[in-house]
Amino acid sequence: MAKPLISERAPALAGSARVPGDKSISHRALMLGALAVGESVVTGLLEGDDVLRTAACMRALGAEVTRLPDGSWRLFGRGIGGLVEPADVLDMGNSGTGARLLMGLVATHPFTSVFTGDSSLRSRPMRRISDPLSRMGARFHGRDGGRLPMAVIGTDRPVPIVYELPVASAQVKSAILLAGLNTPGETTVIEREATRDHTELMLRNFGAAIRTEAAEGGGLAITVTGFPELTGRLVAVPADPSSAAFPAVAALLVEGSEIRLPGIGVNPLRAGLYQTLLEMGADIAFENRRDQAGEPVADLVVRSSRLKGIAVPAERAPSMIDEYPILAVAAAFAEGTTRMNGLGELRVKESDRLAAMAKGLAACGVAVEEEKDALIVHGTGRPPAGGGAVATHFDHRIAMSFLVMGMASEQPVRVDDAEAIDTSFPGFADLMNGLGARIGAA
Ligand code: S3P
Repeated sequence: MAKPLISERAPALAGSARVPGDKSISHRALMLGALAVGESVVTGLLEGDDVLRTAACMRALGAEVTRLPDGSWRLFGRGIGGLVEPADVLDMGNSGTGARLLMGLVATHPFTSVFTGDSSLRSRPMRRISDPLSRMGARFHGRDGGRLPMAVIGTDRPVPIVYELPVASAQVKSAILLAGLNTPGETTVIEREATRDHTELMLRNFGAAIRTEAAEGGGLAITVTGFPELTGRLVAVPADPSSAAFPAVAALLVEGSEIRLPGIGVNPLRAGLYQTLLEMGADIAFENRRDQAGEPVADLVVRSSRLKGIAVPAERAPSMIDEYPILAVAAAFAEGTTRMNGLGELRVKESDRLAAMAKGLAACGVAVEEEKDALIVHGTGRPPAGGGAVATHFDHRIAMSFLVMGMASEQPVRVDDAEAIDTSFPGFADLMNGLGARIGAA
C-alpha cells in the first residue's frame, strides 16, 4: 500500500545522526563473505530491503548467513566455485546492484538460476551484463529487451575476457570481476571513466589477486586472477555517503542549522556531490579522516550556507550518479543556474530520475529544463514555493529528495509514496525528525 508523506518547513536542524551502512559495500560484503572460506563478520550492514534480498539470495546459494543479536551479520562462505543451485526464483526486489552483481557471480557456476524483481527492476536493462557474461560462456533467457525475469544458465567452462565497458557502470564492472573469480586465468575490465571501486577494494581485502593499471588509450584496466583463496574477514561497513547526502543538504538549506554525521564513507569515487556542494559555497567540514575496512571515512559537519549555481561537469557523473536528485533540490535554493550534464544513465535508474525530478521541481514552483541527458535548474537564491504533490515512482531517492525540499520551501511538499525509502534508508523520517525535520503521514 502506498505511504504518502508530507514535509513541512523545519526550524534550524541540530544534533548528530547515524546514517545507515553503505548500500554498495553491504551488498559486496555479503557476496564476498559467502564466497570466502571460514567465518566473516559484517558490522554496520545496511538492513534495507535491497541488501536483505541479497542476504536471502546468498542463503539460497548455499552460504550460512545469520544476523546476530548485537546486529552484526555472520557468514560461513562456501569457497570460490562452491555456490549451489538455488531451489527457487531469486527475487531481487528493487535492487539493480543486487541483481547485476549476483548474475555475474552465478554466470560462472554450472547451474541455472532465475532472477526477477519488482516492476521497476523488471524494466531495467540487463543486456549490459548479459553481453559480456555471454562471452565468458554463460547463457541468458530473458524477456524482450533483455529484461527480468531472466534465467542465467551458468557455464562449467568459463573463459576469461578483456572487456571495455560501453557505459560507465560499477555494476557491470563488478559483475564481470565477480564472474572472473571462478574463471581460469585473468579477467580484465577496461573503464574509460573511473567508477566506484568497492568491489576491487574488498576483493583485495579478502585476499584476491586484483590489480588496477592505466589502460592503453586512457582510463583503467582492472584485472582479477581466477580461483583466489578468499578467507573470512571482519568488514565494518562505513555509513553511506549517498544516504548522508539527504540530511547534509537539508542542513545546508534550513537556516541556522549545524549537524554532525559521523563515520561517512568518503571514497573519492563516491564524493562528487560533496565536491560540487563545496564549489556551490557549502560549509561542510570533513573531520577525523580515517580508514575503515579499506575505505576512507570521515565525520561530516554541515552548517547552513548560501549556495550559488554552477555548471557540473559531465565527467563527474560517475562519482555522484545517485546524487543528482538531491543536488537538483539544492540547486533550486541556490542563486543562479545549475547545469547538470552527462545524465543519460539517470533515465535507467530505479525510475527515470531526469523526468521525475524535472516534473517534481516544476510542481514545486522551480524553473527547470529537462534535456535528453541534462537537467538545468534556475535558482533565485530564495526558497521555492514548494506545495507540490510529487510522484515518486517507487524511487527512494526521489522520495527523500522532495521531503528535504519541503523542509525549507515556502509550502510543505507531499510525496505520493515513501515506501521505497526502506530499500536504502530505513528510519529516514525518524532520523530527519530527530534533527528537527517535520515529516509525517500525509
Ligand atoms: C552501484 C553502482 C551505480 C549506482 C548504484 C550502486 C554499485 O550503478 O547507481 O546505486 O553498487 O555498484 P551503475 O554502476 O549502474 O551506474
